[in-house]
Amino acid sequence: MTGQNQTIQTPILEVTDLSVSIPTPRGPIFPIRDVSFSLERGGLLAIVGESGSGKTLTGLSLLGLLPEASEKVGGSIRFGGKELLGSSEEEWNTLRGSRISMVFQEPQSALNPILTIGSMFREIFQSHPSGINSDQRESIIRELLSSVGLPRPDSISRSYPHQLSGGMRQRVLIAMAIALKPDIVIADEPTTALDVTISGQILSLLLERNRVDRMALILISHDLGIVRRTANRILVMYAGRIVETVSGQRFFSSGPSHPYSQALLLSRPSAGQKTKYDGPLEAIRGQVPPLWDLPPGCAFAPRCPKADNRCRTESPPWIETGPDEAAFCFYPGSGEDAA
Ligand SMILES: Nc1ncnc2c1ncn2[C@@H]1O[C@H](COP(=O)(O)OP(=O)(O)OP(=O)(O)O)[C@@H](O)[C@H]1O
Ligand SMILES: [Mg+2]
Repeated sequence: MTGQNQTIQTPILEVTDLSVSIPTPRGPIFPIRDVSFSLERGGLLAIVGESGSGKTLTGLSLLGLLPEASEKVGGSIRFGGKELLGSSEEEWNTLRGSRISMVFQEPQSALNPILTIGSMFREIFQSHPSGINSDQRESIIRELLSSVGLPRPDSISRSYPHQLSGGMRQRVLIAMAIALKPDIVIADEPTTALDVTISGQILSLLLERNRVDRMALILISHDLGIVRRTANRILVMYAGRIVETVSGQRFFSSGPSHPYSQALLLSRPSAGQKTKYDGPLEAIRGQVPPLWDLPPGCAFAPRCPKADNRCRTESPPWIETGPDEAAFCFYPGSGEDAA
């Protein structure tokens, strides 16, 4: 029993102090800075934060797909105990799709417009040989397309991306991401632009794969309604940094501790929504500072109701706020501030 628990709790992914710098005409920016987190096999993790906070780049870094302009990449990404930073392109290629895969934020650009859906699936299987013959492969492709709720898989297989609706393309992308039964799927805004019914189905599908195959899920989403249904653990990002790590349970019950996380919760639209957490994020007072002009202290200080002189001049510490929970803040709250 104890042994089994230990296996479950062994992190499959450990990211430590990951930082990426990109040169820009205004000077180097750090779109990801000192990002640290871990993920257990079969874990459910969500990354939330406003636009530009570094969520997508964090996901891309786990696949070795950072922008070409990225210069300094520091820290560590350990997957199954092996360091990934510094891997060759060939090593990344072996890993991508088969062990870690991503449902990209832009479904249109993630699908090759000149290939049929079936051809794209065949490429996935051919690039990671598994000894299956072509009949078996075709049958797996049909099963995958059916499993994501696509009717008439043979006809979908013969279609080009532009012949499908946005919701269908998103389902195809999810089927592709789970095709090789990876250990981790990163789903970047997988339900944006989909109606509520379809987004609910897509979420159920990812959760089913998580349950059945113990596929760990990293969900990147603006939509706290979706995050609430999904995540055991939530990372809140702001201006390239994780500013709080908190259990999903606490985030949505007694509330998070960092003033920014609390502002995210309070910015939920409430009127006309089923719950106060449904729907996309609304703006928080003030602007995210540009990455080339971050304030010397806490990046959230200019917008923070609690900020004092220290917050504006000194980098905040990590303060433990609960078991396995912490906030990057001089004055983390009790959570009730956001309730
Ligand atoms: N190739 C690049 N060159 C320079 N800056 C970049 C590049 N790619 C991303 N950035 C910057 O890095 C920051 C983080 O981008 P990222 O796409 O990770 O944000 P995000 O949190 O996913 O936002 P959104 O919610 O809008 O998807 C942004 O400020 C973005 O402008
Ligand atoms: Mg993004």
